[in-house]
Amino acid sequence: MAYNFDTIARDYDRMNHLMTAGLDRCWRKRAVQGLHGKVLDVACGTGDMVVELLRTRHAASLQVTGVDLSEEMIAIAKRKVEGGEWKVTDAEHLPFEDASFDAITCAFGVRNFVHLEQGLGEMLRVLKPGGRMVILELATPDSPLVRPFYNLYTRHIIPWLGQRLAGSREAYTYLPRSIERFPKGKEFLAILRRQGVRATERKLTFGVCRMYVAEKS
Ligand SMILES: C[S@@+](CC[C@H](N)C(=O)[O-])C[C@H]1O[C@@H](n2cnc3c(N)ncnc32)[C@H](O)[C@@H]1O
Repeated sequence: MAYNFDTIARDYDRMNHLMTAGLDRCWRKRAVQGLHGKVLDVACGTGDMVVELLRTRHAASLQVTGVDLSEEMIAIAKRKVEGGEWKVTDAEHLPFEDASFDAITCAFGVRNFVHLEQGLGEMLRVLKPGGRMVILELATPDSPLVRPFYNLYTRHIIPWLGQRLAGSREAYTYLPRSIERFPKGKEFLAILRRQGVRATERKLTFGVCRMYVAEKS
């Protein structure tokens, strides 16, 4: 079963910006550069990727839709973001026609899919040929020098912050565990390429965030 984000929706933004020291905003900003036309943000949560899309140079020409499984997250997105369309729906069964979007974005969402390949397949199904899919995902850093600090921070400090600030140690213990289990780098690129797309990876901030760009031919 998918992790239920309804329970942490209220504190999600505050925790996110605090845990990443605001870097999450920079990562999203990076991900939306150069996107145009009809854009679908999958697992949109409280709408922060849509916020960044609507801040780009091409914002006026964008038509943005955000979808998420969690009603609470979507409710916050609707209150927070002016513009954009929102839908509570499962990424693994998208209610859109084939090839209906110029670009797809997904920030910190795919790690939570129950059936990863099904979700990616759906995202690529609704992407137009020639379109771009940009995925941001958290990962463990490769460097043995950075790793001990990362482990201390994610395994001990983040769960403590989750308990103190969001009242949920469980949600913020799930986070580092799910990051450790999730495929990264070459492994994730191989999963994308099996879907028949060209894919590249860019490591952001010592590789604690990865940006995967897939192009559909
Ligand atoms: C860590 S949050 C990321 C939210 C947002 N994209 C961001 O940048 O902050 C993960 C989101 O994925 C959503 N999610 C998980 N599985 C999903 C699925 N199968 N379909 C749609 N949304 C899903 C959750 O409800 C949650 O809002």
